[in-house]
Amino acid sequence: MESYRFRNNDQMPLFGLGTWKSEKGQVFDAVLEALKQGYRHIDCAAIYMNEDEIGEAFTKAFSEGIVKREDLWVTSKLWNTEHQREYVAPALKKTLSDLNLDYLDLYLIHWPVVIRQGVLSPKSADDFQSLAEVPISETWLGMTECVHAGLTRHIGVSNFSIKKLEQMLSEEIVPEMNQIEMHPLLQQKEMLAFCSEHHIRLTAYSPLGSRDRPAGLVKATEPDLFENNVITKISDAHSCSPAQLLIAWAINRGTAVIPKSVNPVRLQQNLEAASITLSGDEMEEIALLDKRYRYLDGNFWIVEGNSYTLENLWDE
Ligand code: A2P
Repeated sequence: MESYRFRNNDQMPLFGLGTWKSEKGQVFDAVLEALKQGYRHIDCAAIYMNEDEIGEAFTKAFSEGIVKREDLWVTSKLWNTEHQREYVAPALKKTLSDLNLDYLDLYLIHWPVVIRQGVLSPKSADDFQSLAEVPISETWLGMTECVHAGLTRHIGVSNFSIKKLEQMLSEEIVPEMNQIEMHPLLQQKEMLAFCSEHHIRLTAYSPLGSRDRPAGLVKATEPDLFENNVITKISDAHSCSPAQLLIAWAINRGTAVIPKSVNPVRLQQNLEAASITLSGDEMEEIALLDKRYRYLDGNFWIVEGNSYTLENLWDE
């Protein structure tokens, strides 16, 4: 399996399992099955509210010899309510306790958005704090402390723009990862070029378009990646499914990718997709599909009277 090699020689498999929307009652079986099939990279987050059940799957997999801790890559993410410097390590320790691990491989700031601690679902401007009140640089100090304390081996961000990454280039530890939405309709070409210049790695979330999103996050008219003519034509040529083609595309571009599934058959199909090779012509044809289209446009962070706008979220 292809992997990224970090400066300290740690290797992260490009292909991983996403766990957003994997519900409790299902995620234990899904993660255990994935590990049995050979998955070696699991992407988690505190806000997915399922880390305790994923931890049970890890414990069983380690005790049964399915995988060793040192052969598994585990990522998790700091939620928006824990951005104050002194909140970061306790939040990471809670994630470690839920996951039954004593260190993470990678810990990410989930969004460049601050919510007041204790607020579960923010509704009014008062539930938020601005980045002027709680700057990313403060959160990053907390993240850096977690590396020095041995709680995580690597740190990075998610949903960050080039502009926000630029502001972090002189930090003691430069973010090693930016996890962003990425698929043929949102190819993030400028981000890819910027990050490769600065040794920041990229992970593609929602690579299949996250069609199982909660209803409130679905727009009335959305393009369907699985029905796109170019995607179906090329997937037919490889005798694979559109979903497999989308996974193969991400890996052929050299980015990490974390499709979510809780279905054993689709878990296997997705793993197999990681070894499909696309031709230069096929990659060029897919390159033309970019529409800068976000399934997750960040609208949910914009509340009347708070400091966030789509412009200052994405800096576009
Ligand atoms: P399921 O969990 O039932 O397999 P994303 O990774 O972009 O968030 O997309 C996840 C969605 O795609 C889920 O609805 C998941 O359903 C579905 N999915 C995952 N793998 C495949 C596949 N190989 N073919 C079709 N749908 C898939």
